[in-house]
Amino acid sequence: MKPHKFFPSIFLTLPLSGSFRVSAESTASTAPLWPLQSFKSTSVQAPYMNVTKNARTELGYIFISPHDTIRGTEYPMIYADDGQLIWRGPSVNVSALQPQMLDGEPVLAYWDGYLFPGFGFGGISILNSSYDEIYRVTLPGDENKFVTIAEPQAFDSYIDIHESQITPEGTILVTAVNVTQMDLSPIGGPVDGWVQDGLVYEIDIKTNKVLFRWSAIEHLDEVPLLDSMLPLEDSGWNLTAPYEYPHLNSVAKYGDSYLVSSRFMCSLFFIDKDGHVIWHLHGQKGGDFTLDPEARFCYQHDARFITQMDNQITLQLHNNANTDYTSATTLTTGLVLALDMENRTVSAVRKYWDAAEPVFAQSQGSYQNLTNGHVLLQHGATPKLEEFDEQGALVMRARFGFDNTSQSYRGYKASWVGRPRAKPDVFACAGGEGGQTVVYVSWNGATDVQGWRVMTGHNEGVLREVKTAPRNGFETRIQLDGSVEKVVVMAVGGVGDGTKTDIRTVERC
Ligand SMILES: *[C@@H]1O[C@H](CO)[C@@H](O)[C@H](O)[C@H]1NC(C)=O
Ligand SMILES: *[C@@H]1O[C@H](CO)[C@@H](O)[C@H](O)[C@H]1NC(C)=O
Ligand SMILES: *[C@@H]1O[C@H](CO)[C@@H](O)[C@H](O)[C@H]1NC(C)=O
Ligand SMILES: *[C@@H]1O[C@H](CO)[C@@H](O)[C@H](O)[C@H]1NC(C)=O
Ligand SMILES: *[C@@H]1O[C@H](CO)[C@@H](O)[C@H](O)[C@H]1NC(C)=O
Ligand SMILES: *[C@@H]1O[C@H](CO)[C@@H](O)[C@H](O)[C@H]1NC(C)=O
Ligand SMILES: *[C@@H]1O[C@H](CO)[C@@H](O)[C@H](O)[C@H]1NC(C)=O
Ligand SMILES: *[C@@H]1O[C@H](CO)[C@@H](O)[C@H](O)[C@H]1NC(C)=O
Repeated sequence: MKPHKFFPSIFLTLPLSGSFRVSAESTASTAPLWPLQSFKSTSVQAPYMNVTKNARTELGYIFISPHDTIRGTEYPMIYADDGQLIWRGPSVNVSALQPQMLDGEPVLAYWDGYLFPGFGFGGISILNSSYDEIYRVTLPGDENKFVTIAEPQAFDSYIDIHESQITPEGTILVTAVNVTQMDLSPIGGPVDGWVQDGLVYEIDIKTNKVLFRWSAIEHLDEVPLLDSMLPLEDSGWNLTAPYEYPHLNSVAKYGDSYLVSSRFMCSLFFIDKDGHVIWHLHGQKGGDFTLDPEARFCYQHDARFITQMDNQITLQLHNNANTDYTSATTLTTGLVLALDMENRTVSAVRKYWDAAEPVFAQSQGSYQNLTNGHVLLQHGATPKLEEFDEQGALVMRARFGFDNTSQSYRGYKASWVGRPRAKPDVFACAGGEGGQTVVYVSWNGATDVQGWRVMTGHNEGVLREVKTAPRNGFETRIQLDGSVEKVVVMAVGGVGDGTKTDIRTVERC
């Protein structure tokens, strides 16, 4: 870890902890459909991404997993930062999509499996830059004896939706949910109550061997039930409606200790290799710390250290500050906190938010520290990304759906070279305006094609080059002079240089 530098406090002079009231717009049941990007050369579609930039942004592609709850579509996806689609992955229940490094190679990791409200049972797919699955990390039930609300239904794997963090040692950090019993009388429930225990696992990616397991209720004295902010209401009385204690949503590893975020406890726990809680930071009550009022947080996501020293830790998180059982009226921010480990005090260092379009994100979200001092926030149930510069100014805003009808668990910006194994796709038609032939070419997953060389002819053996056009977005439209029968297009430049589409017969437009 690099030594900590004190950050300028100018960000604290910005309007901070304001509580905003949202205007009482009614949520129409006939919600409008968010527009899609559609193409001629492929049936792949993608949510339109409305990018507005005010200044220079960090280079990189955008990684999100938009779930359109009206259309019922959900895919891991990569976009260029002008909003053009780069890759649409398979149709799966997807969560925790994250571009990462494994063995020095860039990979994509994402959860997929069976989704239940707020959690799931599945595995983590790890794809290489050819979009081939190279590992599937699972947590089988037989040896782990998971109990779920879906009893007696069993699942191949019991990894939860919330985390897919690969470590430099080639292991992966994930969460899991297990239904079990505990005394809920301290919060007004039954003595033999039911809860969703929160578990953390570290698993070796290549062998699927469990290297670390931690359960919240096995450390109840250090993870107090009374610190949960979630009202019991009518949950906790049976196995099918367990109380959601503690709802873990991010895990990171530093040395041999683990930083774990609990959404409904509004808490971060730092846990040693034996499972003991080294410290507990409660975002409302303080826990082991005295909390500056500006440093308060709740229902947070994606907590990570920025710097860690013996007496000073800085960390980042996505401070939702709202959930589905609160009114959506507290500003959601990207929050950087300084933890004084000597005096056990916590203060706010930075807050990032879009003053012109404030967000009140009731679930999900992420905070990414980009390499040049920029910060990327993705707001989960509010399907938008924001990028801030090193001064804290908003430089990019990108929306890919309407609130409450589209969501992405997290969002990242990263460099990526896509090497799709499938061929590029082409469609060509003639007979439209002027009778010319128009060629449409795309390559799902390719990032660095520079141009497209069109070859035409009347039979497959004798095709000749007629035109080379620069790549223009996901699908490039190339107009040819005159009419032709057969078309094939070749990628020019990049890692797929020279790769050809199948030969296509020109259709009538
Ligand atoms: C989204 O849902 C929340 C909670 O149900 C509501 O407060 C908010 O107004 C909704 N937003 C939109 C744009 O419908
Ligand atoms: C894109 O977003 C901007 C503001 O962020 C808005 O003014 C504009 O109308 C949006 N465009 C479309 C086509 O939705
Ligand atoms: C997604 O989750 C739902 C609900 O658990 C399940 O019925 C469905 O089979 C899952 N889809 C996939 C592709 O796993
Ligand atoms: C990705 O994995 C597949 C299957 O193992 C392999 O054939 C392909 O070469 C790999 N691609 C890269 C870029 O390593
Ligand atoms: C899940 O809870 C049951 C008791 O309800 C217990 O027998 C089992 O060991 C637990 N599994 C895990 C993975 O903690
Ligand atoms: C379990 O509890 C929930 C919430 O109180 C209730 O709606 C449901 O009917 C109960 N299920 C059974 C099988 O008793
Ligand atoms: C703890 O407080 C003392 C007294 O205010 C101060 O001198 C010291 O620097 C603080 N420790 C840290 C790590 O900031
Ligand atoms: C994270 O943010 C801090 C403060 O802006 C910066 O000093 C640091 O270099 C960043 N770390 C990374 C890994 O980008």
